[in-house]
Amino acid sequence: MCGIVGCVGKIDVKNFLIQGLKDLDYRGYDSAGVAYLLNREIVVHKFVGSVENLSKKTPPKFNSDVGIGHTRWATHGVPSDINSHPHVSNDGTFALVHNGVIKNYKDIKGHLSRKGFSFLSETDTEVIVNLLQRSYGKTNDVLEAIRLTVSKLEGGYACAFITSHEPHRLYFFKNSAPLLIGVGEGFNLLASDASPMITETHKFIELDDLCYGYIEEKDLHIYKDGNELEPVYTEKQPDLLKRDLCGYPHFMLKEIEEIPTVIGRLVDNYYNDGEFNFDPKLIEAIHEADHIVFIACGTSYHASLIGAHYFERLGKDTSVFIASEWAYYPKYLGKKPLYVFLSQSGETADLIRCGEAIKAMKMPLLVITNTKGSTLERMSTYSCLLYAGLEVAVASTKAYSAMVTLLSLLSRACAHSTHIAEKLNQIIEDCNKIIERKEEIREIAKKIKDAKNVFFLGRGYDYEMSLEASLKLKEITYIHSEGVPGGELKHGPIALIEEGVPVITFISDPVTESAMRGNVEEVNSRGAISYIVSSNRVKRDGDAFVVPDSVLYLSPLLKSMFAFYLAYYVSLEKGLNVDKPRNLAKSVTVE
Ligand code: G6P
Repeated sequence: MCGIVGCVGKIDVKNFLIQGLKDLDYRGYDSAGVAYLLNREIVVHKFVGSVENLSKKTPPKFNSDVGIGHTRWATHGVPSDINSHPHVSNDGTFALVHNGVIKNYKDIKGHLSRKGFSFLSETDTEVIVNLLQRSYGKTNDVLEAIRLTVSKLEGGYACAFITSHEPHRLYFFKNSAPLLIGVGEGFNLLASDASPMITETHKFIELDDLCYGYIEEKDLHIYKDGNELEPVYTEKQPDLLKRDLCGYPHFMLKEIEEIPTVIGRLVDNYYNDGEFNFDPKLIEAIHEADHIVFIACGTSYHASLIGAHYFERLGKDTSVFIASEWAYYPKYLGKKPLYVFLSQSGETADLIRCGEAIKAMKMPLLVITNTKGSTLERMSTYSCLLYAGLEVAVASTKAYSAMVTLLSLLSRACAHSTHIAEKLNQIIEDCNKIIERKEEIREIAKKIKDAKNVFFLGRGYDYEMSLEASLKLKEITYIHSEGVPGGELKHGPIALIEEGVPVITFISDPVTESAMRGNVEEVNSRGAISYIVSSNRVKRDGDAFVVPDSVLYLSPLLKSMFAFYLAYYVSLEKGLNVDKPRNLAKSVTVE
């Protein structure tokens, strides 16, 4: 969701802002805009549509040393030129971009309206920029104006702004939404994540909540609670942030085919020379915990469902919650719980809300994320990185596989069971075999592409994986689909089976094989067109796709490869935008 970039100093402002916004476009957006200072006057360009469209409609050079840019994913107000950011204060002296939601914006708007302010847009953001103008009017000091403004805001925000009062500075303030400083030689940068800045610098400052300050050509100042902070620098690896199609037509295809490498990277990072390489304090915390509580959203929730079983095998009680549910209806389980958050981005707003509650109770929190330095990682007691590299396609694939792999390694580390490395090495080979057979999956995709509804059936791990298979299909093909436990079919979903409905059934476990094949008979006799995706040990003639055998608990890694390709090819066959499906955002930074 909304992406922010900004720069100040000796740098090509247009080039950085436009390229930076393109680098953030994987977050999802509907409009884009920029603002810069030209001879102390604020210039704004903002339009519904793509960053490319914005680039075409703006001058070739900005002739400025300071600018901000924004991609908007509409929350308050429809996508429109007027609702796009940057927003400008009534007197034209401040231009601001914002990521997040200001919960009390209606009250502030009412108050400012009574003071004579007018509003052009339907956004919550426009109140912030006018509060800045009003606060500056009272203090004549931009930092004081920020302090006053922030004291009135409720909600989450990351903001960057420029002002004609200090024309060579780029100001920022943030709470519960991501913002980083990139430190350059003769310039400084700001962005929602490191990817737009990585070609310019490897040196970063991760901003804590309630920090504010400014960057200049050769200097920067960060404050919190009225005190200046000493900057803490971190280095970031450019290779893990590379955003390159490498000859692939889509990021999703590239990311599916990176899965074997990602699994290998996790094995190398967390296991070497016969020893696991996890923080011993984390292993101790898992042993001590009487309940392991997983909380996540979307694909990460589905990976949590699989991972929870790995800890049940250790004799632990486990529970899995959707973050937006737990956030408002929390269940506190166990006397000594360990909370585990899975999040590709590390920035999901619903999870941040849960994290705040867990921190307030001083409970231990393990965060498993792909994004070093993200808000959730910084909130954690323990963290494990997924090392999956930047995931650009909105539909998550390699991050799911990385989460399942990491949880398998971590749980086996707790059991001192080193066979896992061998088993994962076998999975890598088997994933590669599936990659070689992707055209077979494309043929199945061609047959289901015109369906209105698709059902995925499974039991146990296959059922939990089928939830992810279904999510992937609906995200990028807009076909309605459901993942259904085989046995639950006759308690409702079977009413929807009619002539020609595709039903994809996963079968991995010999124990439930005959029950699953019975379910297939039930849907076939009602006109469904069945595609069975089986493991080698339970295959039968006529199965649509057979994957190599693996231990049951790792079978989701192989079956999900099939599911990812299926969704990808259906989307491709339908001529849809595979990497950027409608309405969805990669990083969901609002509740
Ligand atoms: C969005 C993305 C999904 C992702 C979910 C959770 O909905 O489109 O792909 O699974 O957020 O995100 P997280 O970054 O917390 O894993």
